[in-house]
Amino acid sequence: MTRDRERRSPYSAPTEHPEEKPEWSPSTQAIAVGRPAKVPDGPLNQPVVFASTYHAHGPVAYGRDDNPTWTALEEVIGVLEGGTAVSFASGMAAVAAVFDQVPVGGAIVLPRDGYYGTRAFAAGTVAGRWELRPVDISDTDAVIAACRGAALLWVESPTNPKMDVADIPALATAAHAEGLQVAVDNTFMTPLGQRPLELGADVVVHSVTKLLAGHSDAVLGAAVAAAGTDWCELLRRRRSAAGAIPGPMEAYLALRGIRTFALRFRQAQQSAGDLALRLASHPEVDRVRYPGLLADPWHERARAQMDGFGTMISFEVLGGASPAEAAANSTRLIVHATSLGGVETSMERRAKWPGDEASPSLLRLSVGCEDVEDLWADLQHCLDAAGKVRRGTGTEVGISKTRVARDGA
Ligand SMILES: Cc1ncc(COP(=O)(O)O)c(C=O)c1O
Repeated sequence: MTRDRERRSPYSAPTEHPEEKPEWSPSTQAIAVGRPAKVPDGPLNQPVVFASTYHAHGPVAYGRDDNPTWTALEEVIGVLEGGTAVSFASGMAAVAAVFDQVPVGGAIVLPRDGYYGTRAFAAGTVAGRWELRPVDISDTDAVIAACRGAALLWVESPTNPKMDVADIPALATAAHAEGLQVAVDNTFMTPLGQRPLELGADVVVHSVTKLLAGHSDAVLGAAVAAAGTDWCELLRRRRSAAGAIPGPMEAYLALRGIRTFALRFRQAQQSAGDLALRLASHPEVDRVRYPGLLADPWHERARAQMDGFGTMISFEVLGGASPAEAAANSTRLIVHATSLGGVETSMERRAKWPGDEASPSLLRLSVGCEDVEDLWADLQHCLDAAGKVRRGTGTEVGISKTRVARDGA
């Protein structure tokens, strides 16, 4: 933290220091950390600093290396995750910065059902640079077997979109014994629901775009590493060198979003549990995946390592792609869109994205903060539409195809 103090621009007053308030709960930290010092007439909020360069002799120097608005955002994300955060232009920029630490020819163990953009980056964008070992991340023995001689274990838990849960502590222990570094994408659970560094990970990645920023108005990422490791410096250097830097305005929006994050997460998580239960007994629903359900294959594992079960639900409707597409196209309140984690509930059929191997009938639901009864009424309406198509009494909608170059989010 002394280093971080030194890095601070003279343009931003030093903030309160989080470790001086160890008794604060995470929901308080989300509000209180990353603010300017309390000086008369000083602003309560960290101002957005638009600057490409700074007067000489200071710690920041150039806008590709640092920015006071990023620093405030990094403080709060770092405190929430229990490490030191480095912000990036997007979640994928943070993912890429972690992957880039693996030497050419190194082996990476990664979930077969993980976020498609991450798998596409690893496999397609930089083909041949690494040896990729896709695994079922919930199959602990298989993952450990795949770790032999590898450099990095990439974990997503729960996975996007199938909601498989990895045993993070067991995997981290085994991977470390083999000499691997362990990275966890914590976008779905957030630090309020899961703290991978405490579960043994070396580095945590976020699409801040999603729940942390929470308003579907900014694309941003972060990587958080355990204190005392080389990760932070490597990631900072990689960010500067590659220019994968967040815009100050996006950093400001994310910081503002994080102030209400605990409230949003609590509300959305409660509604998600409620909706998952109702979906599970709906006649048009074939299967629901939500780790909070007692019947979920990974319920006990999730209970052991998570605090709550998150805001994401996957469910399959009867009858395949056409009824699922009809459901997605019939939303009135719920937003039919890709991405997740906003205050507004959104839903999409994942298999419409080329390359995503989800079942054709799988709908991914990101539960937001609307009244749960309004959400359920809309879901019932969507499922009615799906049922009509399945029985041949409704208007069949075309199966939407997306442009090949897109991954969805
Ligand atoms: C689990 C997960 N990780 C990473 C990303 C990439 O984040 P971004 O879209 O901010 O680049 C996404 C995007 O959907 C995601 O769902």
